[in-house]
Amino acid sequence: MLRKPTFSLAPIVAALCLLTLSACDRGNDSASTSSSGGASAASTQGAGGGGSGALRGKTVGFSQIGAESAWRTAETQSIESEAQKRGVNLKSVDAQGSQEKQIATLKSFVTQGVDAIILAPKTENGWDPVLREIKRANIPVILVDRGVSAPEELYTTLIASDFVAEGRMAGEWLAKKTNGKCNIAELQGTTGAAPANDRRTGFGQAIGKHPGMKIIMSQTGDFNRSGGKQVMEAFLKSPQGKDIQAVYAHNDDMALGAIQAIEEAGKKPGQDVLVVSIDAVRGAFDAMVEGKLNCTVECNPLLGPAAFDAVEKTLAGQTLPKKTIVQDQIFTQEQAKDVIGTRKY
Ligand code: AHR
Repeated sequence: MLRKPTFSLAPIVAALCLLTLSACDRGNDSASTSSSGGASAASTQGAGGGGSGALRGKTVGFSQIGAESAWRTAETQSIESEAQKRGVNLKSVDAQGSQEKQIATLKSFVTQGVDAIILAPKTENGWDPVLREIKRANIPVILVDRGVSAPEELYTTLIASDFVAEGRMAGEWLAKKTNGKCNIAELQGTTGAAPANDRRTGFGQAIGKHPGMKIIMSQTGDFNRSGGKQVMEAFLKSPQGKDIQAVYAHNDDMALGAIQAIEEAGKKPGQDVLVVSIDAVRGAFDAMVEGKLNCTVECNPLLGPAAFDAVEKTLAGQTLPKKTIVQDQIFTQEQAKDVIGTRKY
């Protein structure tokens, strides 16, 4: 049945107000966001936050994947410190890299009757049953950082970076740097995770335009430093190892591990082998200043303020956009020295 469309100015006014706020109080490396799906934008400031006080005394469950990278530690700190600022009783549980533990945690949040749940899901698949259970309990779920492949009605909103765009930016930078000719070793993130899938896709889109750019080996390093180092060591020892001209790592921690492996193999990272990665954490800036990392694409982890803004709005009965995209930028070795002092994570 076709319904007559109804129009209200309220969402447009709200979106304009939020956009203005976001533009005004944006700090040096705090994230700005825009939304998809025709709804309002929100601000994910690295500093500031604090909310209106409406969440004081509320209980919120936060299920974190683990602490595999500096990025994730920064995200956990952002959520925990924002909860404290707002007087939220936060139940923050680290799943130590296990999706099963995350699911068990979510079930326990339902049993405890939390007011809302913030979930950073490890992988894209496997969430439907538990999300349905949470929905039956009428608890809103705010997804942060990674998306899931589940029906949209099973969660309230997703606040995340555009991982495809990040991969594309990395690929475009490398294409420019190498004039479209390069043998690449790829260090993938956790298998089945949205950023691993999407960063591979985006990078592929960029290098696909250059027939001289080839990924000659690719393997997961599970988004952590030791994984990146081990895989890179194996790559370098393989028969094609001497042909590697660049490393594309899906995150900085794996790139930093790869840099160690390249040095131990007697080569100069950043010169003999170019290194490009994603996250823009402090360690990546240190490596760029030392000339060992060539480029990093930002993925802002300071999602606490936006996550709790979303909790506050949904508990107040407001409808949220299904996705809010964190805007990221790219940093090269040449810019690193000037920017490093302004980094917040
Ligand atoms: O989901 C975001 C990714 O997960 C970050 O790039 C990575 O460092 C983290 O572990």
